[in-house]
Parts: sequence; structure tokens; C-alpha cells
Amino acid sequence: MPISIEEVTYLYQLNTPFERTALRDVNVSIPSGALVAFLGHTGSGKSTLVQHLNGLLRPTKGRVVVDDIEVRAITKRRDKKESLLPLRRRVGLVFQYPEHQLFEETVERDVMFGPRNFGATEAEAKERAHAALRLVGLDESLWTRSPFDLSGGQMRRVAIAGVLASRPDVLVVDEPTAGLDPLGRRDMLSLFKRLKHELDLTLILVSHDMDDVLTYAERVVVMERGAVAFDGDPFDLFRDEALVTSLQLDVPNVLRMAQAFEPTFGTIPPALRTEAELADWIALHLRKEGSL
Ligand SMILES: Nc1ncnc2c1ncn2[C@@H]1O[C@H](COP(=O)(O)OP(=O)(O)OP(=O)(O)O)[C@@H](O)[C@H]1O
Ligand SMILES: [Mg+2]
Repeated sequence: MPISIEEVTYLYQLNTPFERTALRDVNVSIPSGALVAFLGHTGSGKSTLVQHLNGLLRPTKGRVVVDDIEVRAITKRRDKKESLLPLRRRVGLVFQYPEHQLFEETVERDVMFGPRNFGATEAEAKERAHAALRLVGLDESLWTRSPFDLSGGQMRRVAIAGVLASRPDVLVVDEPTAGLDPLGRRDMLSLFKRLKHELDLTLILVSHDMDDVLTYAERVVVMERGAVAFDGDPFDLFRDEALVTSLQLDVPNVLRMAQAFEPTFGTIPPALRTEAELADWIALHLRKEGSL
């Protein structure tokens, strides 16, 4: 499902003394099936932007078009009543710290909420909830437990299952790894990668983490003070140290390490995305030299 964000400007608390411009003339188009990361300093507008993708926020100016659904500012009374339910089902949004949104008595009931809300029968909702819980790898013994008895990582999986149960075409995840330890982070990101593949999703990740972006994203959009400051290949961004600094970002660890190893091993191919790939390349290099 293609997404087109066109000239979107968004002001919080419009026409009050607290009015604040969070987005300025943002243009981004995302083809069906893409994996795009949104990166940017705190307060740069990432969460505001992704909330436009399923109609939670409507542009103050400009428009968002998702497949054949258009979201614009409310200009007439009629617009207010117009339902964005079909859009909400097709674009699943997992918030920053999604575990804060769990509320039902059991894991199963929580995940059934979405499909029931979108009109599924009780039996259908249950079937979809079970399928979604299996997809996120949550053990069946936990389904009848209270979501609040689970670990942080498990709660997050329940929240993700809750979005997947509505069978979205686009999955938007805002800071999915915030607060997780390195292993939990890696598990979470490989889960999204697998889901994207198995469910044929368009995947949009909001992230603070340079290494995650380099490892997982095909394209990165950098936000700066509400505007798009870069849109392209993560390598083109991260290899340009002056640009990285001017956008208040950091060079990913893997690229720093590669640079540190260059005096010893010569020029390292620039397309290495992970520490594991770098380690493999060094091992191969040493083997060729006969030192291993
Ligand atoms: N509900 C709100 N009311 C008023 N201003 C807001 C509100 N939510 C966000 N803002 C402001 O809008 C701007 C963009 O915020 P946003 O939350 O979209 O940034 P972000 O890039 O997601 O930041 P973070 O990385 O901290 O999550 C900021 O200046 C923020 O203070
Ligand atoms: Mg945010």
C-alpha cells in the first residue's frame, strides 16, 4: 500500500498562546513493501509525523494519502464525522512504550480488542488474536494471564500482536527497542524483519539508534526541527561525517570500528552493516594473509 505525505504542516494547539509548529512542509513518499526508518533528534517531529499515517493526527496543511484514502485538515462539519476506521485497520501503529496501552484482564482479550473494534465476530477475533500471538512468538501458556504479569519484552509483544490482529498492510513502530537490553533489542528488530517478510508488510520504524537503522533499514528519513533534512540510503548519510554531525546524529558503532581497523587491515568494504559482518570480513582477510 503506497503512502504519500504531501506538503504536510502540523501545529499543536492551533490558535492558542501555546501554538507550536511540529511539522513543516513535509514530503515523503513510501512505496508498497518498503522498509523505511525515521531518525532524528528528540522533538524533531517523528512521532507527530507517524501519527498522521493512520489518521490519529490530521495535517493542519497538506495531505496524507494512503492507497486510496486521503487525510486532510478538517475544513467542514462533514469531515469531522467521516470515519477513519478503515485507515486505522490498514495502518497499524505501535506507540513508543506500547505496553502502557494494555488494559484488558487477559493477554488474549487484549489482543482481541482490535479485531472486535473493526467488526469481527467473537470467534473471528479470537482466531485472529491467536494467530497474532503465535506470530510474535508468545507462548500459549501466557495467553490467559494478565498482561501486567509479563516481562517488559513480553508485554511489548502483546501490544504488537494487538496491532497485527487487525491484519494491517502497513506497520508503523515508534521506538520499538526503547528501554530493552541489547539482546532484547536484537530479538525485537529481527521479529519485525520476519513479520515484514511473512506478512508482506510495509514497515516504518522510528528510531534513535544509528546501528539499528544501518542494520535494518533500506532507506532513512532524517527529521530536523519538523522538516525532512535527509532522505536516502543510510550509508550515504552515515559515511558523511560532517552531515551526521550537522544533523546531531552519531556515526554507527560498526562504521567507527571499521575506521579504527583500517590502519591495520587496509580499506574495509563500505557496505558492512553489522558487527558480525565486520568480524567475518576481518577473519576472511586474516585467513587470506595466512595469519589465521
Ligand atoms: N501534545 C503536544 N502538544 C504540544 N506540543 C507537542 C505535543 N506533542 C509533541 N509536541 C511538540 O512537537 C514537537 C515534535 O514532537 P515529537 O514528539 O513529534 O518529536 P519526536 O521526534 O517524536 O521526539 P522523541 O524522539 O523525543 O520521541 C516537539 O517540539 C514537541 O515538544
Ligand atoms: Mg517520539
